[in-house]
Amino acid sequence: MLSYISAKEAAERWNISRRRVAILCSENRIDGAMMVGNMWIIPSNAEKPIDKRTLRYENERKFTLKPFVKWVGGKGQLIGELEKMLPSNGDKVLTKYCEPMVGGGALLFNVLSKYDFAELYIGDINPELINAYNVIKKNVEELISRLQEMQMVFLPMDENGRKFYYYSVRDKFNSVVLAAETAVEKAAYFIFLNKTCFNGLYRVNRKGQFNVPMGAYKNPTICDKENLLNISKALQNVTIVCGDYSLSKEFIDKNTFVYIDPPYRPISETSGFTSYNADVFDDDEQIRLARFIDEINKSGAKIVLRKKNKELKVYGFTNVF
Ligand SMILES: C[S@@+](CC[C@H](N)C(=O)[O-])C[C@H]1O[C@@H](n2cnc3c(N)ncnc32)[C@H](O)[C@@H]1O
Repeated sequence: MLSYISAKEAAERWNISRRRVAILCSENRIDGAMMVGNMWIIPSNAEKPIDKRTLRYENERKFTLKPFVKWVGGKGQLIGELEKMLPSNGDKVLTKYCEPMVGGGALLFNVLSKYDFAELYIGDINPELINAYNVIKKNVEELISRLQEMQMVFLPMDENGRKFYYYSVRDKFNSVVLAAETAVEKAAYFIFLNKTCFNGLYRVNRKGQFNVPMGAYKNPTICDKENLLNISKALQNVTIVCGDYSLSKEFIDKNTFVYIDPPYRPISETSGFTSYNADVFDDDEQIRLARFIDEINKSGAKIVLRKKNKELKVYGFTNVF
């Protein structure tokens, strides 16, 4: 004989709220659930329905997004590890995604390709990078036509022609001030330089001037139209902020997955790559970041921090898995 349990018992068994059980019943998501009087009863052998709110929907997506710039620290190969940290179901639902040091967005674009977060926040201190995100979001067609034009001129040139063209774009990038009227132009220069400069580096001198020399790519893709169009669609739902990571505090709560991938701490003044902007991410910055992580950890957010040795440090995940 079929036995039933109350919504309260189901809520306890499945570790979700009674309200959630009622919603699942009213959406016909629990086979055999019935309303008796004003209460739901549920067959005692019913299984907890998969939560569709953060469910992967890989099959429904028609495209895979790729970062639109190459970025130091943007480790595509870590994606597999990071993905294991993303929840696929359960009542400890993570509905929000936050990446306050987004850089090239290696994880972001993977997430946007596969997951359906209700709210997303990305930020970075680099105004040129954030301008490019904003232009792709709001003005992608114009950006594409500028990039196509640059690609058409640059690719057929010989080495000397390319050099001349590259350094003239670099000069324009450094002399045009970023403002609403120049946003598209600046984003086009920014992406062009990223695709054609040495190793896709973004490095500025003390005056904030981009100073990376030309790279040696034979046939760089300067305009990936399809990817840019797809990114533009996906960004419509994303809040994009230019500024310090601490601005994301307001956004972060217990339903938020936070991924933090800070710049490396420089080992010495001259060692390797140190700065994405004129300010270096030194020991004081590391301490400030540690305090920030402590603070957001208190909110119950699920945090993944990428450490210098490429390990991932996780906070707040105990209840999710
Ligand atoms: C290691 S990179 C992030 C790479 C990123 N995960 C990717 O996939 O490309 C670190 C980023 O932090 C940004 N950054 C540095 N200081 C920052 C700050 N105080 N607030 C926000 N972003 C900052 C840099 O501009 C850089 O883009």
